[in-house]
Amino acid sequence: MEGEGITRKTVLKAALLAAPLPLVVSQANALAGAPPALTPSCDDGDDPTPPQTEGPYFKPNSPRRSVLPGSGTALTVSGYVFGLACQPLANVLMDFWQADPQGAYDNLGYGLRGHQFTDAQGAFRLTTIVPGLYPGRTRHLHVKLQAPNRPVLTTQLYFPGEPRNNTDTIFDPALLMNVPQPGTATFDFVLNVPGTPPSSPPPSSPPPGGGTWRAGTTYPTGAQVVYGGQTYRCLQAHTAQAGWEPPNTPALWQRV
Ligand SMILES: [Fe+2]
Repeated sequence: MEGEGITRKTVLKAALLAAPLPLVVSQANALAGAPPALTPSCDDGDDPTPPQTEGPYFKPNSPRRSVLPGSGTALTVSGYVFGLACQPLANVLMDFWQADPQGAYDNLGYGLRGHQFTDAQGAFRLTTIVPGLYPGRTRHLHVKLQAPNRPVLTTQLYFPGEPRNNTDTIFDPALLMNVPQPGTATFDFVLNVPGTPPSSPPPSSPPPGGGTWRAGTTYPTGAQVVYGGQTYRCLQAHTAQAGWEPPNTPALWQRV
């Protein structure tokens, strides 16, 4: 469905972020020219979440906890885990690990390591601190996800506006978190799990409000969006795609 604008998943995600649903659907209809409910699958070009290298510092058997104690700049990461049909996935194992503010991993103990499970609505929340930088890498979090009886997805999450995003060869803009305000990040994962599209958005509390930039939206020159807490002006008319987030496309977006 890529190229046709809003897809079912986009609508569901938008509904999660910005109910009421009727408004979201009418906006989607206006953009797509067709009822999104007829879209049978969840494919808007960024599914599923891409894998990334595990790196050298993963340790099995992390403690079960969603709060990773540490001194540094507070960070919460929240969002949802979906299947290929946009269905929220409950009981997904999510194992996070990261560097401390000095860029060091705790390889002796389990500092800044912990696993949790998504709730019945497919939601997760990690409370931690902002990871530090270490040589050769931009700022990132590591995570492994596993839906029940499914393969493990190992990947990483990135922060918008990081200078090293441009030089880290592992960096993937599809894995940029939305950071509407410092210390608050959101990201929705899509796992390679087939299923049936939900009949309605899951009744869950929405994640913190993100910016206004949306993949699939056609932006005219001069349009302004908010992404990662920053305002950007469109330099060239285009239809936004995953990976073309404003911080990564200076030819398309100018920070104002
Ligand atoms: Fe790392």
